[in-house]
Amino acid sequence: MEVIIQPDAHSASVLAARHIAAILRRQPTATLGLATGSSPLALYAELIRLHREEGLSFQHVTTFNLDEYLGLPPSHSSSYHTFMWQNLFRHINVNPARVFIPSGKVEASDLDKYCARYEEEIRKAGGIDLQVLGIGGNGHIGFNEPGSSLSSRTRIKTLAPQTMEDNRRHFDANDPVPLHVITMGIGTILEAGEICLLGFGEKKAQAVAAAVEGPLSSYVPASALQLHQKAVVYLDEAAASHLHHSEYYHWVHRNKPDEH
Ligand code: F6R
Repeated sequence: MEVIIQPDAHSASVLAARHIAAILRRQPTATLGLATGSSPLALYAELIRLHREEGLSFQHVTTFNLDEYLGLPPSHSSSYHTFMWQNLFRHINVNPARVFIPSGKVEASDLDKYCARYEEEIRKAGGIDLQVLGIGGNGHIGFNEPGSSLSSRTRIKTLAPQTMEDNRRHFDANDPVPLHVITMGIGTILEAGEICLLGFGEKKAQAVAAAVEGPLSSYVPASALQLHQKAVVYLDEAAASHLHHSEYYHWVHRNKPDEH
């Protein structure tokens, strides 16, 4: 894992956006795996800026989102469909036919088939070239909560009470946070060519330290990224504050060989 620590979330997100832009300029038909939540907001804002001001094109890009709340129609104000269109898609030239987000309105009896089809769509697109991830306070990635199989595929999951509490802020006061979600599995995520995990703020510090420097464990789903050959973790100082080897990560970052 490569760990990049920046003074704040904005500068870390700009670095991540530059990396994605370089991929899209090299490979305009790339497939991106996308996340929702507060962590990727500055990254998406920078991608929008690059599109508007520097001509970065998403015309031939395919996107797959990690997850969606079961029970929410796409039009719901707290659905991840709404989040993605508000915070990224409507500001760039993505082809709506190339946007894939799990549906929250799948009948229980169709779920297994639906999830298998989502995986099939990813395969048909040639796999995910780069997957963007946030990290939950309990170490989840996607909605793979602690205890998720490290080889899991897209499926239904039950949210942990802490995740429901953490995500309450995205819902209207009288709107319950759904208990169930569809999420790509950890096995699905690990198949991406590259992974970019964003972790910001003191609230993520413990989970980040466990994921980066702790043992590989299904109880810290993000620790599975230790198995990936190209996983980069972008942190602000607060999220990096529980790491023991920050100096070393800075050293490696300063002395990185030129890309070829
Ligand atoms: C979102 C997702 C989640 C979030 C995580 C962090 O699509 O899959 O894993 O990335 O819950 O959420 P924020 O960024 O809101 O702290």
